[in-house]
Amino acid sequence: EKGGYDHFMLKEIFEQPQTIYDCLRGRLDANAGTITMSGIDKFAEQLVNARRIVMVACGTSWHAGLVAEYIFEELCRTNVEVEYASEFRYRNPVVCEGDVIIAISQSGETADTLVAIETAKTNGAIIMGIVNVVGSSIARASHTGAYTHAGPEIGVASTKAFTAQLAVLTMIALKLGYKKGTLDQQRYLQLLKELESIPEKVAALLQNTEHIKRLAEKYKDSQDFLFLGRGYNFPVALEGALKLKEISYIHAEGYPAAEMKHGPIALVDETLPVVFIATKDSYHEKVISNMQEIKARKGKVIAVINEGDDLSASLADDVIVVPEADEIVAPMLSTVPLQLLAYYVGVAKGLDVDKPRNLAKSVTVE
Ligand code: F6R
Repeated sequence: EKGGYDHFMLKEIFEQPQTIYDCLRGRLDANAGTITMSGIDKFAEQLVNARRIVMVACGTSWHAGLVAEYIFEELCRTNVEVEYASEFRYRNPVVCEGDVIIAISQSGETADTLVAIETAKTNGAIIMGIVNVVGSSIARASHTGAYTHAGPEIGVASTKAFTAQLAVLTMIALKLGYKKGTLDQQRYLQLLKELESIPEKVAALLQNTEHIKRLAEKYKDSQDFLFLGRGYNFPVALEGALKLKEISYIHAEGYPAAEMKHGPIALVDETLPVVFIATKDSYHEKVISNMQEIKARKGKVIAVINEGDDLSASLADDVIVVPEADEIVAPMLSTVPLQLLAYYVGVAKGLDVDKPRNLAKSVTVE
């Protein structure tokens, strides 16, 4: 049932070209310039006119919400907030008639996310569920939504569900931005093509993972890890750190790269590996100067970069190369090697990567 892989986690990481494809299939048609999502079309008017959108989720799904915040604000010019479901539900949040709440959940059973949307619903919000498990509680409690179609995720750490959430949220943002007129036709069509090419790019980067295995061996005895990124790749840094913590039990922190000067830089010495997500995007130059700051303090830089980026490579102790893509869709690529890094470190340490200690696949208690 693991399809020849040693663990479900590895199988699910390698399934991503297919699961992202399945998520786009029947919806995205880049040649026709269309995205068909009946659950979104039904509420298109309310979504386009929404005063604000609030994403509620936990854990990895919350990270997908953070990436989506950047995408929605850029393409739809709508105010977006991203909330931990557990904080949102307990703090008497201000929810108004017509607010759109997007609940993101792989299992569709996370207790805090479920209660958060039930409360918001009684205040007149429109609830949209981005859920993987068909017919789950969150799917049923939502007014509308879109399934991620990633198939069953058995590994406790979320991998393929995350990239499918990003694919769905990106499609929704593209639809709304285009309908609203905040996204012009040329950019819209270009992004449809970019999104359509993601499955083959993920497949390409999964073709050679030996170097990530070697990196895992090299750094597996580190006490701590720092993950840094900016913009669309800031949430990817958070996700890379969460995966490593869960699977390898190494303490890891994700941070916006510029924020490190305000505290975490004190941790940097020659024993600290710092993973930079440094792909080519509008933040690239800034990320490079952050890399220089870490190098100057003798940190070990592991950089996720695009091919041919000699400047970044020259600053890094180790590089992981991912295919180039538009910054809007790049997180679907830059996340994958970080999933693999966590996996291989966990395996190198002899840990049960499919069932990390103390964790449950779906958290149905609050
Ligand atoms: C991390 C992980 C958890 C879940 C979180 C939310 O790898 O799996 O952080 O993302 O418990 O779960 P769902 O998405 O099922 O609501």
